[in-house]
Amino acid sequence: MSEAYARSFEASISDREGFWMQAAQAVDWVQSPSCAYDPAGADGRGWFPGATLNTAHNCIDRHVEAGRGATQALIYDSPVTDTVQTWTYAQLQAEVGRVAAMLARLNVARGDRVIIYMPMIPQTVFAMLACARLGAVHSVVFGGFAPLELAKRIDDATPRIVLTASCGIEGARTIAYKPMVDEALALAQHQPDHVVLFQRERLSGELTAPRDIDWMALHGQCAADPVPPAAEMAADDPLYILYTSGTTGTPKGVVRENGGHAVALTWSMANIYGIGQGDVFWAASDVGWVVGHSYIVYAPLLVGATTVLFEGKPVGTPDAGTFWRVMSRHGVKAFFTAPTAIRAVRKEDPDAHFLRQIGTGECRVIFLAGERADPDTIAWAEGMTGLPVIDHWWQTELGWPGVATCYALGDTRRRRGSAGFPVPGYEFAILGDDGKPLGREASGFVAVREPLPPGAFRTLWNNKAGWEKNFAAFPGWYETGDAGFIDADGFIHIMGRTDDIINVAGHRLSTGQMEQIVAAQDGIAECAVIGADDAIKGMVPIAFVVPRAGAENDPTTAKRVIAAVRAELGAVAALKTAHVVQALPKTRSGKILRNLLRKIANGEAWTVPPTIDDPSLPAAIAAVMAQDAAHMPG
Ligand code: COA
Ligand code: AMP
Repeated sequence: MSEAYARSFEASISDREGFWMQAAQAVDWVQSPSCAYDPAGADGRGWFPGATLNTAHNCIDRHVEAGRGATQALIYDSPVTDTVQTWTYAQLQAEVGRVAAMLARLNVARGDRVIIYMPMIPQTVFAMLACARLGAVHSVVFGGFAPLELAKRIDDATPRIVLTASCGIEGARTIAYKPMVDEALALAQHQPDHVVLFQRERLSGELTAPRDIDWMALHGQCAADPVPPAAEMAADDPLYILYTSGTTGTPKGVVRENGGHAVALTWSMANIYGIGQGDVFWAASDVGWVVGHSYIVYAPLLVGATTVLFEGKPVGTPDAGTFWRVMSRHGVKAFFTAPTAIRAVRKEDPDAHFLRQIGTGECRVIFLAGERADPDTIAWAEGMTGLPVIDHWWQTELGWPGVATCYALGDTRRRRGSAGFPVPGYEFAILGDDGKPLGREASGFVAVREPLPPGAFRTLWNNKAGWEKNFAAFPGWYETGDAGFIDADGFIHIMGRTDDIINVAGHRLSTGQMEQIVAAQDGIAECAVIGADDAIKGMVPIAFVVPRAGAENDPTTAKRVIAAVRAELGAVAALKTAHVVQALPKTRSGKILRNLLRKIANGEAWTVPPTIDDPSLPAAIAAVMAQDAAHMPG
């Protein structure tokens, strides 16, 4: 353990006030904090009560004012459109100011919500920062979600404006976004004042309603408008809402507050990732996910670094050398991606020919998160790149890492299969069913002691009760929803979820939600959706459906349920397999034996549980799966 890590962790626990007050000095406040945490319970103001700031000012203006306007802020590298473009901090300031003026023209003011349903283009970043400047609350919706999911978010966030683009480019495919926005608005109760459409060269979208406005036309009209001032926000004012999968069909709107977020992210760049002014940082994620919010947009800019916005895939855009090419071309110092992306690269280029040809440039370290990093993938990546590959763990709820090897604090301890150690600010325990901390090596619920550190959620949008639920099972602890253990040497191992959430290609999805969709289709008596192991995506959902009496011979059942999940949840659900079975294996008390289904699907050894209602079912299901597999193309 490095001394710096030990000191830092110890201080964060024994002197929480001192630790975070010192970290807060790296942020440019309007009204500086007089204390770090207000412990006055649920009604308290949380982190940095009474302090005020503007997050966009901290990301942009302060750097320009400090004479760093000519430093590169944003690099847009888009192999799918063959574009590389850069913006200095001064140029970013101008772009963000213009979008802020556009939003102000549309009467967007502090506290208003703005939904951003856009692909990985610079305008998306400008829009997020423009909202932050105005004090408007953005909610970015990932492009892989279907119109119904977008509609749910529109109804919950009740935005004044929806910002979109004509299309997203997904590898070789072009996906029209505007028709999806139109469909979502036809489904939603709430209607925004305007939809602003950014036209991309590849495919234009139609202005279909009087409320629709062309982005560039509005941009032109506002060319001479004054740039709205950066709003003075309270530390606990919301910066954004990011919806994530919960255990029901209703997404959870995680609310991120301005103050704690700025402090925590700034701290993390210096002490976990080792990135500061002038360094180039690249998180190959999507701005629709929390990694994209924190480490493509906010954190690198907060510390005056250069961030890379990559529009492409790890493979196929154009090849498995993309990562190494982008890294080398821009002098990336630290790189962050999901294990699934490394697995995809490895599959295409197992001997790393591209890597050998291109190299990793100035890159010093690779971070992985989003799903469990299997030891084999880490070993391959370390062996091929010669760089330390650091797995670290976090969640949308937290906003920044909770378990990591704090590389920038000089910690070098790594154990493949473990996500590392508690990050300063986080006190972990593995709890048993009775809520008591378990000893080393024992598996249980992964929990974090209250209060959660700055940056972590303190409520869910319109759903305080939903937030409280996370703290209800084990008083005094936040239940992460993950299972794991701490080994004899203190390494934390995250082994999977305790609920029905699965991680598909690093994307967080709810099997419960998929079951709701499947069960609602014609001719379905009941169903179960489980996450099965997948060599590339880590996990993929598989549905087991029981037809209603009379519908047993309907040959369309499997196809219909697959299409329904894609149509209602979105392509990102990646449900490609549905098995029609005569019944689901259940205990005598009626509980579906999902673990048994998972084992059968994974081809693992299974036994008939003594509690099963019908002992003949598992073999029958295995036979159906074998038969279906034999009929699958490829
Ligand atoms: N807009 C529209 N559709 C999207 C989309 C978006 N932003 N993102 C994904 N999709 C679609 C995909 O095109 C695909 O559609 P298909 O079923 O018609 O092929 C589907 O959703 C599933 O996408 P995905 O699971 O991403 O699979 P893929 O085969 O396209 O790509 C990987 C596989 C591994 C290359 C890709 O998932 C990847 O890069 N993962 C890394 C994820 C990541 O960075 N996560 C963030 C956490 S750090
Ligand atoms: P998300 O909110 O989309 O970031 O997903 C968070 C969930 O992803 C966590 O609760 C974990 O289940 C999983 N996860 C993220 N990072 C890791 C990791 N490094 N190891 C294991 N699981 C992870």
